[in-house]
Amino acid sequence: MCGIIGYVGKRKALPIILSGLHDLEYRGYDSAGVAVLERGHLSVVKCKGRINDLEKLLESRNLQACIGLGHTRWATHGKPSKVNAHPHTDCSGRITVVHNGIIENFDSLKKTLTKEGCIFKSQTDTEVIAHLIGKFYQGDIEEALRRAVKMLKGSYALAVMAKDHPDRIIGIRNDSPLVVGVGKGENFLASDTAAFLSYTNRVIFLEDKELVTITPSGIEITSLGAKRIAKKEDKILHTKEQVQKGGFKHFMFKEICQQPQIASKVISRYVTSKGQIKFKDFSIDQSVLEKFNKITIVACGTAYHAGLVGKYLIEDFTGMPVEVDLASEFRYRKPIIKDNTLMVAISQSGETADTLAAVREARKKKTKVLAICNVVGSTLTREVDSTIYIHAGPEISVASTKAYTAQLMVIYLFGLYLAGIKKTRSKKQIDKVLASLCQIPSKQKKVIESSKDIKKIARKYLHFGAFLYLGRHLNFPTALEGALKLKEISYIPAEGYAAGEMKHGPIALIDEYRAVVCVATDSFVFDKMVSNIQEILARKGKIIVVATLGNKKIRDCTKEIIYVPSVEEIFYPLLSVIALQLFAYFIADLKGYDVDKPRNLAKSVTVE
Ligand code: AGP
Repeated sequence: MCGIIGYVGKRKALPIILSGLHDLEYRGYDSAGVAVLERGHLSVVKCKGRINDLEKLLESRNLQACIGLGHTRWATHGKPSKVNAHPHTDCSGRITVVHNGIIENFDSLKKTLTKEGCIFKSQTDTEVIAHLIGKFYQGDIEEALRRAVKMLKGSYALAVMAKDHPDRIIGIRNDSPLVVGVGKGENFLASDTAAFLSYTNRVIFLEDKELVTITPSGIEITSLGAKRIAKKEDKILHTKEQVQKGGFKHFMFKEICQQPQIASKVISRYVTSKGQIKFKDFSIDQSVLEKFNKITIVACGTAYHAGLVGKYLIEDFTGMPVEVDLASEFRYRKPIIKDNTLMVAISQSGETADTLAAVREARKKKTKVLAICNVVGSTLTREVDSTIYIHAGPEISVASTKAYTAQLMVIYLFGLYLAGIKKTRSKKQIDKVLASLCQIPSKQKKVIESSKDIKKIARKYLHFGAFLYLGRHLNFPTALEGALKLKEISYIPAEGYAAGEMKHGPIALIDEYRAVVCVATDSFVFDKMVSNIQEILARKGKIIVVATLGNKKIRDCTKEIIYVPSVEEIFYPLLSVIALQLFAYFIADLKGYDVDKPRNLAKSVTVE
């Protein structure tokens, strides 16, 4: 998704803006631009391509301004090009805007503005906003912005500069994140705290339709009715170093390797020394939780796969039926949610448009919503009844890895917590599961230590044109997640499938050109997996298996085995997925792709 950074203060704006754009690169983009305002002159420089290309263009410009905007564009309306890159300006050239989101009624607005004499240069929806502000501007830039956004339908995070107001940047958000960085004699506006974390960790999170004016000495937040709004300041707890690679070739590999320590951190955060599960700031009363007899989980992508694992676990632990929905489907299928249903929304970023929309749909029906999220203060966490944070630290790589296993850790704990409340598991049984869960980080480390063996197998299979990933029961979501990892960073078609479905169609795909990854760790369905493997081998399919260390039977099937340590069956999702993350990582890296910023993808899908 697009990245926004605005700066106003005592220092030269350009270096701060460009470093902020680099810190937003992980969001994914195809073009970039800046606008600075100096002695009444507005300079706009933009280009298709990377920020380094933009920096080359700026070398010849001696721009000393202390106020400016920067933007990285992830194309929605209009192809990646210089003319479609942000910032955009109005007809007079006095107003400039950067935007993250989608304006759904831009076409009708564009027609009206064109009739009124506006000349459009780009195909973007954003340019409509610049012209609207220009149309309403009569000296009061805040008022012009308020009038303009009242005409807009859709999502937007905006930052605006006006020639006549060289001391201020104005911003407003609706369904798209925008956060204020609070400095000393300087202030920042950005889509994400990562853009200004080098300069300040003091932040103010904006709510929808709150308009902010930042100047070097102040921050004023007002409503669309121009009423002042008092906001509290938050502090960002992680440091910029935590978002650096720290010697790893890619953020993705670093984040895969962080998983054991994060699993330990989740346990230490939520399991007391007496072995009690306690979620800090959990604001849904036990007496309320007891009444729920159904859970519905909504999420997208990797978070959805975590939700699928959650279904197996929570139904096993509590006996409660658990429905899992793709948020993008849930929001449009007129969902039936009964009073005694708890919604659990899983999201790493807390900004995913579909997940937010699904939650809003449930809230309309007065459903209690719990978020499992990684980003403190994100939109999702401010729209639910309670949040359990996964404490995975900033996840920079677009392909989610550490957030997935951290989500799973929270789901294991939440399922056990519910089992305790519903008395479907005794304290002794819960303690036993917790004791095994505490061993998981060391087992995850073992999988990561087998990276070299995994890389060898990856090297042998990186030329295959298509992959099928198979799993059963708890390993079915793992197969889906493994397939997603491979396709999103190596661009190789990879399909996750329930192994039991093979004879219902996919077996037609099998020939010597098809690689099949089977997640066949020890379980009550292991023998069924072996049958699937035999059927594939009988049709010359190439098999790679994730299996339990020490399992001898699997050796009769194939030599391509990625072993994971032996654990109780319910814990394999926390181990086998790491093997598949590494497999996908090595294939993409060996193919020379941009592992952390795969083409067409964004880290947080803040638009539909
Ligand atoms: C995961 O590797 C993908 N980048 C993507 O599917 C992601 O999981 C999905 O967009 C959901 O994001 P969220 O967890 O921030 O809501």
